[in-house]
Amino acid sequence: MRTPIIAGNWKMNNTAKEGAALVEALKPLVKDAACDVVVCVPAIDIPAVAQAVQGSNIRLGAQNVHFAQKGAFTGEISADMLLEYGVQYVIIGHSERRQYFGETDETVNKRVLRALEAGLLPIVCVGETLSERETGKTEAVLLKSLTEGLKDVQSPEKLIIAYEPVWAIGTGKTATAEQANETIGYIRSVLAKLFSPAIAQTIRIQYGGSMNAGNCKQLMSMPEIDGGLIGGASLKPMDFSAIVHFDK
Ligand code: PGA
Repeated sequence: MRTPIIAGNWKMNNTAKEGAALVEALKPLVKDAACDVVVCVPAIDIPAVAQAVQGSNIRLGAQNVHFAQKGAFTGEISADMLLEYGVQYVIIGHSERRQYFGETDETVNKRVLRALEAGLLPIVCVGETLSERETGKTEAVLLKSLTEGLKDVQSPEKLIIAYEPVWAIGTGKTATAEQANETIGYIRSVLAKLFSPAIAQTIRIQYGGSMNAGNCKQLMSMPEIDGGLIGGASLKPMDFSAIVHFDK
């Protein structure tokens, strides 16, 4: 059985102080969660949030990691820098990184390989745009992103995949539970070919895109959906904790 994983993606929200306060509010609300609970926070919030999550069941995640160990990469953050603060998870290849910062399946792959080598658990984001869905290209896009993004991965059981249809992110438009389940099922079939059917059964695949307190129960009831990557709703403790408790 795959343990569900609910991860907040704060994006560029919350200063370090605000982030620590959010986590303090969240701690009592999620302390008896039956799933893994993660907050992926802005890099500069990491020290404060690392302190705030201590002794709780909330795990710390980053929103990106560079593929080099260190060196002349102005503005970037290395895996070792994250690890020193107890960061365990890292989002890689979010559609906003792909859209605004030139991230490609190739750079995603380099970051995934580096994260795994360093001992971070990558949350690898894939998803189609609205025009790709409307022109029937969803499966081709996902196949390419997964094949290229996960090339040469030696420890696939450490991966978490987030299926985030770009048209559902921050738009209030959610994929229907059936749509998300079907597409995640397709992703799992690709993972079975890339790795093995047995490994594909162990890899957790999240849905992301306007998941909220109202729709999480239905999405999480689908057999292929193992969790959520939550943007907007992760900024409000009550909303995020309602998603964490999707099973209640
Ligand atoms: P959203 O963002 O929940 O605000 O749609 C999800 C994401 O981008 O990870």
